[in-house]
Amino acid sequence: MIIQTVCVLGGTGFVGRHVVAKLAAAGYRVRVLARSREKSRHLWPLPDVEVVEADVCDEKVLRRQFAGMDAVINLVGILHEKRRGDFKRIHADLPVTVARACLDVGVPRLLHMSALQAHEHGPSRYLRSKGEGEGSVLRAADHGLKVTVFRPSVIFGPGDSFLNMFSPLVRLAPVIPLACPEAKFQPVYVEDVARAFVASLGEASAFGKRYDLCGPKVYSLKQLVRYVAALNGVCPVILGLGSRLSYWQARLMELSPVKMLTRDNYYSMQADSVCDCPFPAVFHIQPAALEAVAPAYIGRS
Ligand SMILES: NC(=O)c1ccc[n+]([C@@H]2O[C@H](COP(=O)([O-])OP(=O)(O)OC[C@H]3O[C@@H](n4cnc5c(N)ncnc54)[C@H](OP(=O)(O)O)[C@@H]3O)[C@@H](O)[C@H]2O)c1
Repeated sequence: MIIQTVCVLGGTGFVGRHVVAKLAAAGYRVRVLARSREKSRHLWPLPDVEVVEADVCDEKVLRRQFAGMDAVINLVGILHEKRRGDFKRIHADLPVTVARACLDVGVPRLLHMSALQAHEHGPSRYLRSKGEGEGSVLRAADHGLKVTVFRPSVIFGPGDSFLNMFSPLVRLAPVIPLACPEAKFQPVYVEDVARAFVASLGEASAFGKRYDLCGPKVYSLKQLVRYVAALNGVCPVILGLGSRLSYWQARLMELSPVKMLTRDNYYSMQADSVCDCPFPAVFHIQPAALEAVAPAYIGRS
């Protein structure tokens, strides 16, 4: 399959900007559909990248923007709902619309971003909605669409929202009551995720597959917070909360206008975000260790 033109949804986000930069560097012509062209300024200087302001939930708009494209990449996702039903709309319904629009206008290839542990019967609404979306796009393969689904653990790299969220906290608070301290993660570097997306585009063996993406090492949440603290040159007391207190902390923090932890995040953390196999060999990527990357962007400097 020869792919020259790629339309990216969610290309303005943390993962999206890495994927778009990699596509541009590899010589693809890229169209990014964004809610705000102005907010996508960082993409403007990239060669052969066109940013189009569009409502990605409108199927007519998608059909128009997808026409003539060789591939579509859907990275749109949220971690917190602003309104009840957002998870379903963004993670479960949008992928159906995207797959249908691809089939309608003859786009042959679709890459879809899901999440590790996504499952229709997962413990949280986030994971269930991701599982639903993933199932729908894979079913579109029965109609001839060449689909690949990616399921990363938590993603790290400059500008991530996970490790960066803990930096101000560890610097400010001498004691940190931490919900779900033993929840397990296997963080994966954003550059490795982006490389896997780009490498998979024309890779026939990836058609119809879903790939779990993890870094080389498993950490508990408490170990990760302790590591962020060490990079910041501080040593707060980290008080791991038991299950009931973790739930109540999430419930209270959910009321804050700045969403750091919600009950749905608490439920997501009931499933360890770890892989049971190494990084998919088909992409020829040796995933980077957290310790090799994080010191460059986390810490006092
Ligand atoms: N980061 C992680 O650790 C991680 C782990 C596993 C899976 N994922 C998945 O990877 C994908 C990208 O994550 P990310 O970390 O890059 O997230 P992000 O930085 O928040 O980017 C999300 C993207 O989705 C777009 N988006 C969100 N809600 C939208 C809506 N209602 N309509 C249109 N566009 C909307 C955003 O557009 P605007 O720029 O206009 O807001 C942005 O481009 C998501 O599907 C996420 O679930 C991420």
